[in-house]
Amino acid sequence: MGHPLRELDTSALRAHVAGELERTRLRSAELTDAVDDDDLVRQHSRLMSPLVWDLAHVGNQEELWLVRDVGGREPLRQDIDELYDAFQHPRAKRPSLPLLGPAETRGYIAEVRKKALDVLERAPMEGRRLTETAFAFGMIVQHEQQHDETMLATHQLRSGPPVLHAPDPPSAPAGAPPAEVLVPGGPFTMGTSTEPWALDNERPAHTEHVAPFFLDTTPVSNARYAEFIADGGYDDPRWWSTAGWQRRRDAELTAPRFWQRDGDRWMRRRFGVFEPVPPDEPVLHVSYYEAEAYASWAGRRLPTEQEWEKAARYDPGTGRSRRYPWGDEDPTPELANLGQRHLRPAAIGAYPAGASALGVRQLIGDVWEWTSSDFHGYPEFCAFPYAEYSQAFFGADYKVLRGGSFGTDAAACRASFRNWDYPIRRQIFSGFRTARDPLPGEAG
Ligand code: AVJ
Ligand code: FE
Repeated sequence: MGHPLRELDTSALRAHVAGELERTRLRSAELTDAVDDDDLVRQHSRLMSPLVWDLAHVGNQEELWLVRDVGGREPLRQDIDELYDAFQHPRAKRPSLPLLGPAETRGYIAEVRKKALDVLERAPMEGRRLTETAFAFGMIVQHEQQHDETMLATHQLRSGPPVLHAPDPPSAPAGAPPAEVLVPGGPFTMGTSTEPWALDNERPAHTEHVAPFFLDTTPVSNARYAEFIADGGYDDPRWWSTAGWQRRRDAELTAPRFWQRDGDRWMRRRFGVFEPVPPDEPVLHVSYYEAEAYASWAGRRLPTEQEWEKAARYDPGTGRSRRYPWGDEDPTPELANLGQRHLRPAAIGAYPAGASALGVRQLIGDVWEWTSSDFHGYPEFCAFPYAEYSQAFFGADYKVLRGGSFGTDAAACRASFRNWDYPIRRQIFSGFRTARDPLPGEAG
């Protein structure tokens, strides 16, 4: 299959890249112009960087990869590389670094962008793997978009009146889909070798065998999750793994992050708004351990990432894996809740047009979905263009999340896209859906 980006001639490809860079920078500006300078340099949570660090880091990565590496140009600010190297300083320590101030940061990233656009005009788009189909530019667009989602999570942790505003997502159509579908067993193609801007951890395409299993057609709702709480789920070690129970006790978990009890109902804080928890929305801000405990309470389990990807991509009609649940076309506002168009997940069962071939909804957008899989490289994984993007995180410390959230941009979201985080994390826009093995005779 020819990917749409490969059909473009060089000047159309350059125009596309310039548009993506521009669109992405507008979002970074919106997220940082929404607060004053004092707020930009402040630490809103020890889990996060000050917003001004993210902003300069995004520019510094653009300088390293596009200006210096692709362009072969002189450094603008070599002296600050170390400050904005994520491996040099943990997030909690970043506020005490001699960071560029807000005005300096804005000046720096604008300067870098001017040079990067100049490189874009002149660099050949072939002959070198880094620039093939503008890969390095695509990587930088995705990197900035990923930090935009991180900055959105910082906004969620920030206290004070709301500064971000967006319309509500579309409601769900009448007529709920069946609760679960059977995903057939057998081989399917996982990962990709043809998606031009796919990151190293999504590569290469390879065959995976999955046993037949049942998967929820929608993410787990707040209402269902509240039943787990009401049933004493947080007080019953039966539902929790050993590590999960330990965390539940140490952190004194009683409900998803940002939830608060008010008489007989649950309230939540969402980007500065205090509101009742909507029962029919996917549960958000839960850790892997909470997702795992809910699933065992419900007599189910989390899907593996192989299962998740098969349910999302496999087309039983052709036997092929598609780029997205709905097919090979890029996301649109009718297909998925992505791109910070809405500051919340859509109701359970929304986006029927975005369902997979097997009828599974909301796989892309709304909430990141925890899977039971540790983060590892695929067979014949090859770090590219640097080991610190993915490889440094491989191992049992991280769990894989799939599908993107309302805070994820389409440029950084595909059915092959892999996110990862520590199983205790819940400031991210994380939810989940559950799976189960077939009963004897049930798998046809
Ligand atoms: C893929 C979201 C886990 O934020 O740590 C940003 C993305 N990598 N800068 C992260 C990333 C380098 C990464 N996640
Ligand atoms: Fe980064």
